[in-house]
Amino acid sequence: MRCRICQYKSEFVISFGKMPLANHFLKKEDFDEEYFFELATMFCDRCKTFQLIEQPKPDKMFHDNYAFFSGTSKKMEAHFEHLAKYYQEKFITKPSESFVVELGSNDGIMLKHFSKKGIDHIGIEPSLNVAEVARQQGVNTISKFFDENLAKELYLRKGQADIISASNVMCHIPDLKSVAAGIKLLLKPNGVFVFEDPYLGDMIEKVSFDQIYDEHVYLFSANAVSNIFLPYGLELFNVERQTTHGGSMRYYLGHRAAHAREESVDSLFLYEKDKNLDIVETFYNFSKNCVKKKKNLIHMLSELKEKNKRVVGYAATSKSTTVLNYCDIGPDLVEYISDTTPIKQGKFSPGMHIPVVPYERFKRDDPDYAILFAWNHETEIFEKEEDFLKRGGHWIKFVPNVEVLEQKSCASLPSD
Ligand code: TMP
Ligand code: ZN
Repeated sequence: MRCRICQYKSEFVISFGKMPLANHFLKKEDFDEEYFFELATMFCDRCKTFQLIEQPKPDKMFHDNYAFFSGTSKKMEAHFEHLAKYYQEKFITKPSESFVVELGSNDGIMLKHFSKKGIDHIGIEPSLNVAEVARQQGVNTISKFFDENLAKELYLRKGQADIISASNVMCHIPDLKSVAAGIKLLLKPNGVFVFEDPYLGDMIEKVSFDQIYDEHVYLFSANAVSNIFLPYGLELFNVERQTTHGGSMRYYLGHRAAHAREESVDSLFLYEKDKNLDIVETFYNFSKNCVKKKKNLIHMLSELKEKNKRVVGYAATSKSTTVLNYCDIGPDLVEYISDTTPIKQGKFSPGMHIPVVPYERFKRDDPDYAILFAWNHETEIFEKEEDFLKRGGHWIKFVPNVEVLEQKSCASLPSD
């Protein structure tokens, strides 16, 4: 297998088997036509990038009916409002002369805070339905994929940007080379390119293999990010850990020598060395840990089934598609998955075909157990679902470990 970034050859592959598209919730009549691919990853020993080997074509994933709306979580709303404010305070000195670009701007969750202030901006969002929601909120949006050509077009039309931002987007883009070249062109000499994505270090530590699905082509480390962008003259000068998506990292890059390198970069490099994120042995261990987790989860659910307990899923997340398909968990073990997103409701989960029901069903139902698929929103969910415990329900978690939570521990869990 050859690395997507540096073409280096790797022999070691971690396979998760046949997998559908993580967000392809479907109707019964579409079961026969369902698309599957081989979900497998590799770690490149040269550029240190952890990546998918095969990926379905982007137009199969970010189509005109993409099911993911950023604005469905209150925590994400708060996160992006905070991010927009932070950008404005730190990097925008003259609002009337500034220009902000966001790659993968989704429903405008971040850029609407620039739009409200009259700051010039453009969101790039290929999924038509979410882009339309953004436009309705006053966010200028182009429905295309960002690449070097689009960067040239924008450069000629609008000039260079003070900020290029991308949240949970860079890890989705197979051809990072064209994107890196585009950013280099579109960024002002003192501009900042800031992106955040789930962090490889957290995935390895928590064995959260559910971060691996068709849309996540890469799980980055600082080491990999530096190796990917430096050839394009973009240098990493700051990093910040984020609690979103079960552990993310925010990377700050600029033109070479344009910004002083902060201490955070050196400490993260040391951390990654200490955690052996740069050697292939770590990924051998990770693959063994995935198999262990799979066995534990199947064992737990099978035992509950034998005891005639009712188990449901909480939140039909993209991540749950990997867990359910890799562990071969279907409607015999999980009765339904409740979810707040209307376009998922009434459909079936990708691959395993577990019914997805409106959240209200969970609220008036009394299942014995609920698997927390949205484990990255644990604090928010436990707060709003206190009465599930009062009704005698139990939570099942599988990150970091497969366990049934004791009632008292739900109230005192640390913030995610
Ligand atoms: P994601 O992990 O792929 O971003 O998907 C999150 C899904 O979880 C989305 O469909 C909404 C759903 N969800 C709930 O149903 N209830 C919740 O409390 C949260 C936080 C998310
Ligand atoms: Zn490589």
